[in-house]
Amino acid sequence: MRQTPHWLHRLCFAGVALVALAGPSACSQAPQSEEDRKIRQLLGQMSIEEKAGQMTQVTLGVLLDDNSDSIRLDPQKLREAIHTHKIGSILNSTGEAFPLSLWQELITAIQDEAQKSPHSIPILYGVDSIHGASYIEGATLFPHNLGIAATRNLQLAAQTARITAMETRAAGIRWNFDPVLDIGRNPLWSRFPETFGEDSVLAGEFGAAVVRAYQAHGLAHPAAVAACAKHFVGYADPVNGKDRTPALIPLIELEERHLPPFQHAIERAGAATVMINSGTLNGVPLHASRYFLSDVLRKRFGFRGVILSDWKDVIRLHERHRIASTPQEAVRLAVGAGLDMSMTPHDFSFAEHLTALVRNGELTEDRLDRSVSRILKLKYELGLFENPRPEPEAAANFGRAEYRQAARQAAAESLTLLKNEGGVLPLSSSATILLAGPTGNNLGALNGSWSFSWQGDKEGNYPDAYRTLLQALRARAGARTILSMSRTDFDDPRNTDTRQLTRLAASADIIVLALGEKAYAESPGSIDDLALDPAQISLAQAAARTGKPLVLVLIEGRPRIVREIVPDMDAILLAYQPGSQGGEAIAEVLFGDRSPGGRLPFSYPRYSGDITPYDHQHSADVQQRSPGKIERGGYRPQWPFGAGLGYAEVKYSNLKLGRQSVEGEQNLEVSLTVTNTDSARPAPHAVEVYLSDLYASISPAVKRLKRFQKLYLAPGEARKVSFTLNREDFSFIGENMKPVVEAGDFRISVGNLSGEFEYTP
Ligand code: BGC
Repeated sequence: MRQTPHWLHRLCFAGVALVALAGPSACSQAPQSEEDRKIRQLLGQMSIEEKAGQMTQVTLGVLLDDNSDSIRLDPQKLREAIHTHKIGSILNSTGEAFPLSLWQELITAIQDEAQKSPHSIPILYGVDSIHGASYIEGATLFPHNLGIAATRNLQLAAQTARITAMETRAAGIRWNFDPVLDIGRNPLWSRFPETFGEDSVLAGEFGAAVVRAYQAHGLAHPAAVAACAKHFVGYADPVNGKDRTPALIPLIELEERHLPPFQHAIERAGAATVMINSGTLNGVPLHASRYFLSDVLRKRFGFRGVILSDWKDVIRLHERHRIASTPQEAVRLAVGAGLDMSMTPHDFSFAEHLTALVRNGELTEDRLDRSVSRILKLKYELGLFENPRPEPEAAANFGRAEYRQAARQAAAESLTLLKNEGGVLPLSSSATILLAGPTGNNLGALNGSWSFSWQGDKEGNYPDAYRTLLQALRARAGARTILSMSRTDFDDPRNTDTRQLTRLAASADIIVLALGEKAYAESPGSIDDLALDPAQISLAQAAARTGKPLVLVLIEGRPRIVREIVPDMDAILLAYQPGSQGGEAIAEVLFGDRSPGGRLPFSYPRYSGDITPYDHQHSADVQQRSPGKIERGGYRPQWPFGAGLGYAEVKYSNLKLGRQSVEGEQNLEVSLTVTNTDSARPAPHAVEVYLSDLYASISPAVKRLKRFQKLYLAPGEARKVSFTLNREDFSFIGENMKPVVEAGDFRISVGNLSGEFEYTP
C-alpha cells in the first residue's frame, strides 16, 4: 500500500498547486510551513517569464567564454541567461572534468549573479555523477551499477553513493542525475553497464539504497544531493538495441518489471526528481505521455518532486519524434503531459515558447505555478535559498583517503569468477605472468563512461594515482615477474599481435588475457553485434596454442560473446567496469589476497541471437529442436543469472519453510544453513532466494529472485540465515494490468535446495 510521506504535509499549501502537488485529500489538513508561505509569496510576485525561466535548464557551455583557452564564464552571457532569460537551472561540465576549485568558482559566480535577480532565486545545478563525481578532477570512481549489483551488497552500494554525494556537493553541486533504474534486458544497449542488470528486484533494491544514501539526513545536509531516478520508463530495451531508438514493451511487462524500480525509488526512498526517457515507448514519446508522467508518476506513485526532461528531448518531439509540427507545439505537449523542467540545453526557446503558450491561452499560468512551486520547493529543501554558494563543510569532504578503500572494496566484491579449473587461481606470487590484451593497460576500459570525460576514453584525464591492471599487477607482484604486451592505447593493433604473444609466452608460466571493451557512453557506444572483437578472439586462440595455463579477465560493460574461447580458458574472471581501484582489486583476487564473491546480475549470453533472461516463461525453455522431440533447455546462456564462484566452497543445508500452507497476509519464513567448507579461506558469499509460482493465470516465470543477502563467512563457519516473504511476493500482474494473488502451489529454491508451499489468498 502507498503511504503519504511525512514531508508531503509540509509541501501542501492553500491556493497554488494544492491539487497537483498532493491531491486534495492528502493536503486538506496540512499546516503551511515557512517554506510553503515563501513559495506562495514568490509565485505571487513572479512574472510569466520568470516562471517559464525557472522551468528552463541550460548546459554550462551556453555561459562560457568561447574566446578563452581556459574554462571561464562569459559575464555577459551569464547576465543574459539569468536576467534576460531568467533561467532556473544549469547542468553539466563541458564534457570534461574540472578541478574542484574551478567548480567552486563557477558555482559561486553563477549563484552570486542569481542573487542580483529581482527575487534572488538561486540556480539549481545538476551533473551526472553516475559512478562517482566523475566531472571533478581527482574524485573517486566506483564500479558502474552493473558491477555494484554483482556485489549483492546494499550497504556497500549505499557507501559508494554517500561518497559520490559528498564529492559532488563539495563542488557546490547539489543535484545528481542518478541512479539509472532502467533494467538491463538488452545487452546490446550501450548503457547496459549503467543498469543494475536484468532483474527488477535488484534494480529496485539497489536503486532505493542509492537514492536513500544520496538524500540521507535531508537534502539540506552538506553531504547530500538530490537524486534523479532515470530514465522513466522503458529506455533500456530498444527493439534494435541501439541507444535512443523505439522500444516496444507490453504494458504487462512494464508493470511487472520496468515500473517497480521507479515506484520503490519514489515511494520507499523518496527520490526528489525523475528524468524522462528520451525515446518512444509503444510509439509514444515519453516526454509527451500524459499517461506516464501524470497518471502513473504523479497519481499512482504519488510523486511530488521535479520531473526533468532528458537532453533536448522537448524540442525532439518536433525534430526527431515528429509528433509536434512546431517547436512550440512540442513545448505544449511536454508541459501538458506533466513535465516540470526542460533540459533544453543549448538555447532559451523553451522559456519563450512556454511564455507564449500562456499568453495565448494554450497553457494556464496555474499549470506553470505547479511546476515552479516544485522547483522552488526543491531549491528550499536543498538549502539553496539559505546559502547557494559551495559550502566549506561540504568541500572538506572531498578526496578523503578512505574513499579509495571503499572503491577497492566495491570493485573487489563485484568481481565474478565464472570458471576456475584445476585450481589455476589464485596465482602464485612467484609465477612469471604474461599480461596480454587491449584492456590490460587502459584506464578507460576499467572506468567506462562518465569518467573525467563523457566517453571516459581520455587516458590523460585520469589522475596519476589511478592504476591500470598492468600497473596494479606489477605493484603487487613486482615488475620482473609481470611481462606485458598491453599498450595504453586500447586501439593499438600491437595489443592483439599473436606473434608477439607467442614469443613472449615462451618466458611465462601463465598467461593473463585482459579482453573486453574500451570506454563508451550513450549512443556512441552502440554496437551491431555482441560478438567480441575477432582480433581479441584470435589472440586468445593463439594463447591457447602455447599450451600455457590461461586466465581470462573480461573488462567490459556488457557481455561480449566468448563462446569459442571459453573451453580453452582455465579461469575466467568478469570484472565489468570496476572503476578507479579496479586494477588493484583484480590483482588482489588473482593472487588470492581476497576471494571473489560477485554474482552475475544478468544472463551472460552464449550466442548473439539468443538473449533469454533468467526469469523467462516456461515456454521459452521448452524447445522442439527436431520434429516431435519436445525437451527443455531453451535457457542456455554461457553463464546464468546469479553465477559466481568463490575460492572457498560454500554449501547449503537445512532449508526450512516456516509453514507449508500460507494464507492471506501471513508471512512465510525461509531459513537455511550456509557453510563455508574451506578451513583456510574466508568466503564472501551472497545467498539468493528464488520463488516459482507453479501454475498461474498468466504464464508464470520459471523463477524470480525475491531476496538476497551478502555474507562473509570465516573459514569453516556455518551460519543460519532467514528471510521473510509476504503476500506482495506471491503476487503478479494479471490480465487487467493490476497485481493479483491466486491460490496455488509455489516453490522456494536456494541453490540446490528447494521446498514447496501452498498459498491461499
Ligand atoms: C543522458 C542522461 C544525462 C543527460 C545529462 C543525456 O544524454 O541520457 O542520462 O543525465 O544527458 O548529461
